[in-house]
Amino acid sequence: MQVVRTVRELRRAVAAAKASRREVGLVPTMGCLHEGHRALIRHAKGLCEWVAVSIFVNPTQFGPGEDFARYPRTFEQDLEACASAGAALVFAPEKEDFYAEGASTWVEETAVSQGLCGEFRPGHFRGVATVVAMLFNAAQPDVAVFGRKDLQQLAVIRRMVRDLHMPVEIVAHETVREDDGLAMSSRNRYLSADERLRARAVPEALAAARAAVTAGERDAGKVRAAAMERLGREPAFRTQYCVIADAETLRAVTTIAPGRTVLAVAGHLGATRLIDNCDL
Ligand code: PAJ
Repeated sequence: MQVVRTVRELRRAVAAAKASRREVGLVPTMGCLHEGHRALIRHAKGLCEWVAVSIFVNPTQFGPGEDFARYPRTFEQDLEACASAGAALVFAPEKEDFYAEGASTWVEETAVSQGLCGEFRPGHFRGVATVVAMLFNAAQPDVAVFGRKDLQQLAVIRRMVRDLHMPVEIVAHETVREDDGLAMSSRNRYLSADERLRARAVPEALAAARAAVTAGERDAGKVRAAAMERLGREPAFRTQYCVIADAETLRAVTTIAPGRTVLAVAGHLGATRLIDNCDL
């Protein structure tokens, strides 16, 4: 597996792969890779012969007071994870090289990025869309794989690709979970042992909402109340939002349309922010 630091080296490697008629897959990450990331890489490998993984903790998607400086960095282990999952190349640029000095161009999606996390993390999706556009321009992948765990991020990227005619196919991968249902996340390592136990309130709240829908409930307010009841039994979890929304537009809905409606939750456990979602 090749490890490159510059766009020039990345382009050269991609050009060689394309010259031998191999489809190019890209899995963008911020490192601290876990089984969820590895599943994305394996999935990309099933779709494309040649897969690149980017590892870049993108400063522009962190707000002031967020965890950019202390975001976990585990580069050596990440390289092993990429190699064993089948990546051909890792692109790990330095931020000073990847962002031009005085960079002043942004990509901003203005509909699906509103609400949910967009409300609590101003500027976050602008940073995400910009860096993903930069990665797409640098790597020119045929396919890029993203996790459903970051539902709003996935929606923003799909819109960006559609609106700007970017020649890349976006593929979604389902959320990979721990045994007790907690969605895997690089940030889970911030949780204390006690918080880690309490974190299961989040997947259990999703399960409670799903159970209500399975039992025939279609009133979004009542389904949301089932989720909130479970979250309410975990006083350490401070809910930011718990929203039942249309799966495409991410706008709140009042009636559940099974298969076309999602529940999205975000909140803090101690200092750690957790997000999760499920189809209803
Ligand atoms: P990061 O949080 O490292 O996630 C990289 C990719 O892994 C994203 O597509 C995310 O949705 C996916 N992922 C994370 N946890 C997952 C899980 N438990 N199951 C399935 N997929 C999971 O998301 C980012 O980085 C950044 O915003 C990025 C897109 C790289 C732009 O900087």
